[in-house]
Amino acid sequence: MPALLRSSLPFSPSSAILKKSSILPAISCTYRSSLLPRIHFPGVRTMTATAARPDPFRPAARVAGQRQDVWSIVNEAAAASPVQPIVNMGQGFFGYNPPKFALDAAKDALDRVDCNQYSPTKGRPRLKKAIADAYSPFFGRTLNPDTEVSITTGANEGMLSAFMGFIEPGDEVIIFEPFFDQYISNIEMPSGTIRYVPLHPPKDGATRTSSAAEWTINFEELENAINPKTKMIVLNSPHNPVGKVFSKAELERIGELCVKHNLIILSDEVYDRLYYVPFTRIATLSPELYERTLTVASAGKAFYATGWRVGYLIGPEHLIKYVAGAHTRICYSSVSPLQEATAIAFEQADQVGFWDDSRAEMKSKMERFCEVFKELGIPYSDPEGGYFVLANMASVKLPEGYQFPPHVANRPRDFKLCWFLIHEVGVAAIPPTEFYTDANAHIAEDYLRFAVCKNDDVLETAKERLRGLKKYIQ
Ligand SMILES: Cc1ncc(COP(=O)(O)O)c(C=O)c1O
Repeated sequence: MPALLRSSLPFSPSSAILKKSSILPAISCTYRSSLLPRIHFPGVRTMTATAARPDPFRPAARVAGQRQDVWSIVNEAAAASPVQPIVNMGQGFFGYNPPKFALDAAKDALDRVDCNQYSPTKGRPRLKKAIADAYSPFFGRTLNPDTEVSITTGANEGMLSAFMGFIEPGDEVIIFEPFFDQYISNIEMPSGTIRYVPLHPPKDGATRTSSAAEWTINFEELENAINPKTKMIVLNSPHNPVGKVFSKAELERIGELCVKHNLIILSDEVYDRLYYVPFTRIATLSPELYERTLTVASAGKAFYATGWRVGYLIGPEHLIKYVAGAHTRICYSSVSPLQEATAIAFEQADQVGFWDDSRAEMKSKMERFCEVFKELGIPYSDPEGGYFVLANMASVKLPEGYQFPPHVANRPRDFKLCWFLIHEVGVAAIPPTEFYTDANAHIAEDYLRFAVCKNDDVLETAKERLRGLKKYIQ
């Protein structure tokens, strides 16, 4: 597969990483904004600004964020709902603890002097080795823990490090819609430009339960989004929020385009242990794909410990070393005791059959929860992996004149559905148009995303409450 568009090295890291930027001392600022209320410190002399500045505290555009984010809208709606407490099926955190072998390892690690100090910036040797050992069979080769694995503070910081390591201002990155929302700011931090390519749901998704596999890529749209500035593409399989596991054939076609146009692939595989159909890792399809792919995964998702913030990347040395370089500058190293605990958890997981149990348990939660949609005749997109399910609520009629607050009223229908569900039946879900550009939001405005990684009694309570929707279904 020849490289066509890109003549320069696609793997050239961003210049800041290459230069080993020095850390500048913080500059103290004595100017105050006259626009802000002044806080009074008793007995402390007031200092006044000597230079006029329009708004010295104006945040950088990359963090200013104009729109209220979905998490705060949902939390606010939940707090204001007459039904209390809300059953929260919104955010993808687990409603139960990590397995005992992981928890015990974390407790033991806290008692060890070395585990309470800085870890090497690329990660603790024991964890890198445990990951190399765990993943070598999937990759069909022996991974080198020192050069092909790097530990990060959750998959999210791993992806930020990947973009920081390779994206220069003006470089373009392709992502599929719907997307995991953090991709956007992670790409914007190094001033990358995003090109969006939508996944297309089945046309009759409002009337028929379908497979998440039926969300498809239009390959012409994908190739049209590639141009000489394109440097990376982000894949996510199993996919959040769709639950799609990209088929081998789809990954081969994507891979061909990436080789042809000489792109780096960032393959977000944080749900790699939760698949209900055969799961293929794009990096394993050919040596050409391995050499251009960074696979990112998450111990938080694997061991039900999203708060541990342990993630990792696997890839060839010529990519990993620059991701690790960016990671060093972002946070130096990641939480030591929980890295050690993750290492031990990986060492033990296979022996106790954890991966099979974990997959079977999540699949049964999914089936248990989706029964309510069958009962109500609400079609859903049956997930092939992960722990999210998209239900199509086109048949739920919102009462005429129902009062929504302005910040909900001016968003697509799924935001109104979300508000309505919280207030009328006391179940929180996530409106998936949050994971779309405005131009493509219409694709998902009848859907809501539910996270099933909750205890079974919580799932049953949610189901009982959702039965309250019956009177609104037409
Ligand atoms: C698709 C996807 N990628 C990455 C992440 C972040 O993983 P971590 O919690 O390890 O940062 C999430 C978390 O929800 C996710 O859904």
